[in-house]
Parts: sequence; structure tokens; C-alpha cells
Amino acid sequence: MDNVVIMDHPLIQHKISLLRDKNTGTNEFRTLVEEIAMLMGFEALRDLPTEEVEIETPIETCKTPFIAGKKLAIVPILRAGLGMVGGILHLVPTAKVGHIGLYRDPETHEPQEYYCKLPAPIEQRTIVVVDPMLATGGSGSDAIRMIKEHGGKNIKFMCIIAAPEGLKRLHEDHPDIQIYVGHLDRELNENAYICPGLGDAGDRIFGTK
Ligand code: PRP
Ligand code: URA
Repeated sequence: MDNVVIMDHPLIQHKISLLRDKNTGTNEFRTLVEEIAMLMGFEALRDLPTEEVEIETPIETCKTPFIAGKKLAIVPILRAGLGMVGGILHLVPTAKVGHIGLYRDPETHEPQEYYCKLPAPIEQRTIVVVDPMLATGGSGSDAIRMIKEHGGKNIKFMCIIAAPEGLKRLHEDHPDIQIYVGHLDRELNENAYICPGLGDAGDRIFGTK
């Protein structure tokens, strides 16, 4: 699939395996989600524009690349996406952060929208949407639609685990965006949970049930 990157780095795979383990507690789970987001962000941001700036080293003056402008926006899908924000902020501390609130209706599994606040001017920013789980793809697809309706153009989507159904839907609904997937799992079950997956990401990050 064009515009889809499935991560194959052993460090990312190792950390995802730890995440899946039901015996991994909240504290470790949060740390792992943040670390994976940072490692994935390293790949997803490889095309950030740079500009040559003149500096003085102890030896001589030289022109050397810096990230151009302060134009990155990270947009977590609430709640679970919040767990990934810190990892990307480690890489780009000046990034702005927007929020999109969506939850899946437990019966229909359709996303329900409850919040949207994006940093302006959104149309000039590279936007990285983060959510650990891409299951049916409904939440991810709706979040991207909302960002586009606000004028967002250069959009990337990062998830830690995807189901084939969700990846197909997101790609078909938004073929223009770059999608980064930590691991592509087998399938959805009858409750639209990812198998083998890691359970409910929001509950595991925030210790709720
Ligand atoms: C989870 C997850 C995604 C969504 C994925 O959120 O974090 O946002 O489900 O499912 P989908 O691809 O089928 O839409 P959830 O609705 O459980 O909300 P929460 O993060 O607040 O727990
Ligand atoms: N949301 C989750 O948190 N986990 C899944 O497996 C599916 C949706």
C-alpha cells in the first residue's frame, strides 16, 4: 500500500511485545507507549524540512541544518493518544499540541465526537495524529476528516497496533496521508477488539476499567 509504513525495527517490536503482556502494569505500560511513540516519531519525521543556519563552532564558522520553523502539531485522539504525545515532544519540544475527543460507542463501535481543539494556523503545519490502536479505523478516519475540515493538509497518522480492517479503511478514506504502524495484527474479534492486540489501550494507560 502506498503511504503506509509498517515498522520492522527490533526495538519497536520488543517494546510492543512487552505492551501486549497482560501482566505489564500501568506504570510500565505508559513508559513503553511513550518510548514506542518516540522511536516511531524518529521515522515519521524524517522528512521534516530543515534550513541552513550559520553558527560558530570552537574551530570555525559554518552553516549547519536546523529544523525549519516551529510548524509541527501533534494531535492525540483522546484518551489513549495522550500516552504518545510525550514521546514525540522529546524529539520536537517546540511542537504545538491539539486534541480530538472521540470514543467508540460500545454497541455500534462507531466513533462519537466530543472535543476538537487544534493549534492555528493548522493549514501551515505538519500534523501528526497519534492513537495507539487502529481497530475498525472509524476513530482515525473521523479524526483526519475533522482536521481536514479545519484546513489541515500535511497529515501523518501514527498507531502502535493496527488491524488489517482499520488500516484498509483509513487508507481508502484518506489515501493522501502517511500512515505509520508499529505492528499489523491478525484481525478484529466480534467486539471489534484487535487480536492478539493489547486490550483496551486507554484503560491500560490510565489504570481505569
Ligand atoms: C480506542 C483507541 C482508538 C479507538 C480505535 O479508543 O484508542 O481511539 O478505540 O478503535 P476504532 O479504530 O474501531 O475506532 P476508545 O474509543 O476506547 O476511547 P478511549 O481512548 O477514551 O478509551
Ligand atoms: N480500542 C482499543 O483500545 N483496543 C482495541 O483492541 C480496539 C479498540
